[in-house]
Amino acid sequence: MSKLTQLLCLAELDQQQLSALLDLALDIKQSPNNYRHALQGRSIALLFEKPSLRTRVSFDVGIHKLGGHSVYLDLQNGAMGERESVEDFGSNLACWTDAIVARVYSQKTLVRLALSSKKPVINALSDIYHPCQALADLLTLKEQYGDLSQVHLAYVGDGNNVCQSLMLGAAIMGMDLTVVTPQGFGPDAHVLLKAQEIAQRSGAKLTLSQHVSSAAGADAIYTDTWLSMGTRSDPALITEIFSPYQINTAVMQRLAVKHFMHCLPAHRGHEVTSEVLDSEHSLALQQAENRMHAQNAVLVSLFS
Ligand code: CP
Ligand code: NVA
Repeated sequence: MSKLTQLLCLAELDQQQLSALLDLALDIKQSPNNYRHALQGRSIALLFEKPSLRTRVSFDVGIHKLGGHSVYLDLQNGAMGERESVEDFGSNLACWTDAIVARVYSQKTLVRLALSSKKPVINALSDIYHPCQALADLLTLKEQYGDLSQVHLAYVGDGNNVCQSLMLGAAIMGMDLTVVTPQGFGPDAHVLLKAQEIAQRSGAKLTLSQHVSSAAGADAIYTDTWLSMGTRSDPALITEIFSPYQINTAVMQRLAVKHFMHCLPAHRGHEVTSEVLDSEHSLALQQAENRMHAQNAVLVSLFS
């Protein structure tokens, strides 16, 4: 198996690598003591151009649990690329730290960071992808259902970064994924093509639809905000377009779906009702907890 050297996008991984990462994450979750020195003497930069609760805290605490040290940087000292170029940022950070975890507006910034830094770069969310979230989501589904190739997940909402990483992750693992979005809000054509190519090899079934009824019979329904960070659409118009895609108790019952998933933060009363989010069917907090274990598996793999 080839070694993990960065994580900008899940398509960098093959099924064997992704499967091994999920197994490692489970082992770290079950036996954290075995990994408490895994990052000893290592420092990781956490670079955030956008707000975060889960990603920031799960990386910070996770690195600490592995015996490493993290340095948090946000835009308080000015936007990246203003005081000095993204390339200078990357090359300088690589002088002192062992890896860069970055949440950025543009995937291109991650590529520039990775090219200029001699150290691994991990995508902590960009406009196109959220691979760490998808890793935690797959881990959660694996805990619930075991064999991912037997799982049918339905994503309902905006064809955004979270959806696009799920598409790649599901395709790699041979999982069935139905993506339901309003017309004009489907996933990026390039990402779709990539996911379809991977799905053809793995046997995954990737279905696109504009009708919530297409999610019927799925094991779990996943949704995310209708308006991602950095999106400039009119909120009132978005609410009008997306309202028929809200996940509420009536929808869960009508479609006979057992589990609900959300990457959080949730906009209660918009993409999901509190009744569903807080119900026993919701895996949202398990997903949130698994962010740390999945990311720690990535960090351990990078440095083992
Ligand atoms: N799910 C997620 O990435 O949450 P944050 O934006 O709070 O990091
Ligand atoms: N799609 C959302 C995910 C937040 C974790 C966003 O990009 O804002």
